[in-house]
Amino acid sequence: MFRLSNNLVGILNFITFLLSIPILGAGIWLRNHVTNKGAGQVLSERGYKEYRLGDYSHWLQKRVNNTKNWNKIKSCLIDGKVCSDFNDKYLNDTVTKFYTEHLSALQSGCCKPADECGFEYVSPTNWTSTTTASSTNPDCAAWNNDPNTLCFNCNSCKAGLLDNIKSDWKKVAVVNIIFLIFLIIVYSVGCCAFRNNRRDNNAYNSGWKHP
Ligand SMILES: *[C@@H]1O[C@H](CO)[C@@H](O)[C@H](O)[C@H]1NC(C)=O
Repeated sequence: MFRLSNNLVGILNFITFLLSIPILGAGIWLRNHVTNKGAGQVLSERGYKEYRLGDYSHWLQKRVNNTKNWNKIKSCLIDGKVCSDFNDKYLNDTVTKFYTEHLSALQSGCCKPADECGFEYVSPTNWTSTTTASSTNPDCAAWNNDPNTLCFNCNSCKAGLLDNIKSDWKKVAVVNIIFLIFLIIVYSVGCCAFRNNRRDNNAYNSGWKHP
């Protein structure tokens, strides 16, 4: 019974170890390929970064450019109150104060118009289009003060979401590495127990054969 459980532990450990290799591989691959550099564009005199869809891999861009996918994500963002929380948090900011805030990728990409649009700040989610603004960025035309529209149709919002996913994958990769180290320890302990058990049996057998 003891030997059986040891064998079982050894086999299970080995299978889990083998399974963890592709998971770890996928994590590392996604870190290096699926997501390019990303990380957002640093703006002068702004506390936040802005996100461009073009900085992410074509494969990821295709996923978020799919209208069906994006509509689902968009309703999640609205239901998740990403931008209403953002508005509540920075509501009392003056424009100068607002520009110094450190915003998350989703807040920066989805809840406010791009800096280059040159819109006038009223509140974090209320901006007035100015006649002098002449940006060719399609995100500027996509902006609307309606809480259910804001910049949810902007490329910057899609980029912000991808940046969010990228940071999640980084966490997955870290968790994977910790898990793998844990498995290696468990596996080597399992192996030792198995080997010791066999040695004990051998000792017992030889003792029995040669009294
Ligand atoms: C935005 O601010 C303007 C000016 O204060 C106001 O008239 C308008 O109703 C606001 N829009 C929204 C959606 O809150």
